[in-house]
Amino acid sequence: MFPIMPCIIGGSEVSTRYLEGRRDLVEYVVDRVVRDVYVLKVNDRHTKYFEALWEIPEGISYNAYLVKTGEGAILIDGWKSIYSGKLLELLERLIDRDELRYIIVQHTEPDHTGSLEDVARWAENATVLGHPMAKRIMGSGYPIATSRFKPVRDGETIELGGVKLQFIYAPWLHWPDTIYTWMPDSGVLFTCDSFGAYGATSCVFDDECRYHDLILRWTKKYVVTVIGSYRKFIVRALEKIKKLGVKPKIIAPGHGVVWRKDPSLIVDYYERLATGVPHGEKITVIYASMYGSTEAAAVTLARHLNRRGAHVVLHPFTDTTRSLLSEILADVIDSKALVIAAPTYEAGLFPLMELVLDEICAKASGEKPFAIISSYGWGGIAAKRIREKLESCGFKLAGVYEEQMVSPQGLVSDESALEALAAKLLG
Ligand code: FEO
Repeated sequence: MFPIMPCIIGGSEVSTRYLEGRRDLVEYVVDRVVRDVYVLKVNDRHTKYFEALWEIPEGISYNAYLVKTGEGAILIDGWKSIYSGKLLELLERLIDRDELRYIIVQHTEPDHTGSLEDVARWAENATVLGHPMAKRIMGSGYPIATSRFKPVRDGETIELGGVKLQFIYAPWLHWPDTIYTWMPDSGVLFTCDSFGAYGATSCVFDDECRYHDLILRWTKKYVVTVIGSYRKFIVRALEKIKKLGVKPKIIAPGHGVVWRKDPSLIVDYYERLATGVPHGEKITVIYASMYGSTEAAAVTLARHLNRRGAHVVLHPFTDTTRSLLSEILADVIDSKALVIAAPTYEAGLFPLMELVLDEICAKASGEKPFAIISSYGWGGIAAKRIREKLESCGFKLAGVYEEQMVSPQGLVSDESALEALAAKLLG
């Protein structure tokens, strides 16, 4: 066990960072969002696969928020259970346990509620607030929290020590239980998963981050992998807060940075991703190649696409490299078109491509054109399978290039056919 090492960042008396266990580089950060509102953030670089599925070498943070008032405090969300003890330590530094009057559960997924039972046990005066669905989802797994649970209605307001908070139901972002919490006096909108991102960032606020391109890349990865299946609910939530006249000065999500300098940037970015706006002339080429032949055709097609002005992103699966599923989906979501290249494997499609296409259909489907490249030894099945899968979720076939045994030396027998396919794909 490593000692807790406090060090001051940012020159503020509440801006304190704790490092523990250098091996995993877990960081605990407390910083002031606005007067009497604090972000309690843990930077988790230990989790390599979010939801045991999505590759996140960049890590992830879980953000809870503490609102202090003259009549008590309110905690919004929490952390994953393995960090629960540390969250209690930080809370003890900021408030007396009797001061905590409310714990708001904006969303019950355990990356935000893993600490809930411990906090509810610690703060025995606290009432737990959430959407009625939250209690149902918590079931019997949170006996202390559910025994003090009080459901809140869409639009309901609470007031404590002159601080007003309004709850806005935002279903399917990312579960059916989700609520936002709006603090009109300070202009802070707490949104849990919405407007969140992957990345265990040292910067707490958008204006402190020097690598905005990466922040947006990690945001895109997060949106497509976590909320991808529910993208239309992002649009609905945005319409709803607009109709309510909610104009946030600060967006305070449950993951990633707090947006205080330019909250419209993250809102607009989410909207673009949710509505499927392509990033220029971007085309994503995903190829699987057992012996180099499919790769040769895919790279040849990519070259022709590039010559015609496309910005081509390649995601290979070969005997020396394997693209990450989370990165593939992040590129698919804002591509103008796709190329899927894979061989037949035994009597079916190359298995890893089956998985990729399943996830594209689940998380990043859209009415975009796609081209197929396929090769085979004794039986051509892959092209048919790719077509069936992608057409079943809205993609439009632009053309197919299929050959028996394209050269493993990297030569394609019909380069002009690939050139023609590039032209067709670009319309
Ligand atoms: Fe960050 Fe859906 O939990």
